[in-house]
Amino acid sequence: MKATVVYFSVSGKNEQVAKAIDRELKEKGHTTDVVYLQPKRPMGVIKAVINSVFSRSVELAEQYSAGDAELLVLVGPVWASSVNPVTRAFLAQLTDLGGRRVVNVVGGFNPHVNVVREINKQLKAHKAGPIVSRALRMRDVDNPDKMAAVAAEIVAEATA
Ligand SMILES: Cc1cc2nc3c(=O)[nH]c(=O)nc-3n(C[C@H](O)[C@H](O)[C@H](O)COP(=O)(O)O)c2cc1C
Repeated sequence: MKATVVYFSVSGKNEQVAKAIDRELKEKGHTTDVVYLQPKRPMGVIKAVINSVFSRSVELAEQYSAGDAELLVLVGPVWASSVNPVTRAFLAQLTDLGGRRVVNVVGGFNPHVNVVREINKQLKAHKAGPIVSRALRMRDVDNPDKMAAVAAEIVAEATA
């Protein structure tokens, strides 16, 4: 299966998650592209919080898409109990997913199921097929064994 792994990360935790899923996909014989969502301009903490609280997105450096992959993997942090503005911008840019499979992983100090649900809703509006989603606690990402196990579980479900 061909997969596109799209992620946003500032301090590197969600990048670790994206890379763990990417590693697992490759290990299981899938082909992957990894794409970092780059905001057009750097965003300070205050702006980050305000944008998140008011459900605003930001301009991205380029037009990103799921490409021709059969599986889209989306990973990003929760900010202010909400979808971060970069992930939000990507979701707004998305075109019809045509029933393709999606993995949606949201990282936070705590697991935010509400944010996962909001992203799933938007993915479904873009005609996503089956969605495998997780709200992860960042503390668990620092445990390599735990992270590898979570990545294995996600990939197994998403590619079944
Ligand atoms: C502006 C901002 C707001 C945040 N708000 C929350 C929050 O409401 N709940 C939570 O569990 N984590 C929150 N976090 C923690 C992030 O989700 C955590 O730093 C992130 O998942 C690690 O991301 P990164 O290392 O990939 O950048 C916030 C972080 C930032 C920078």
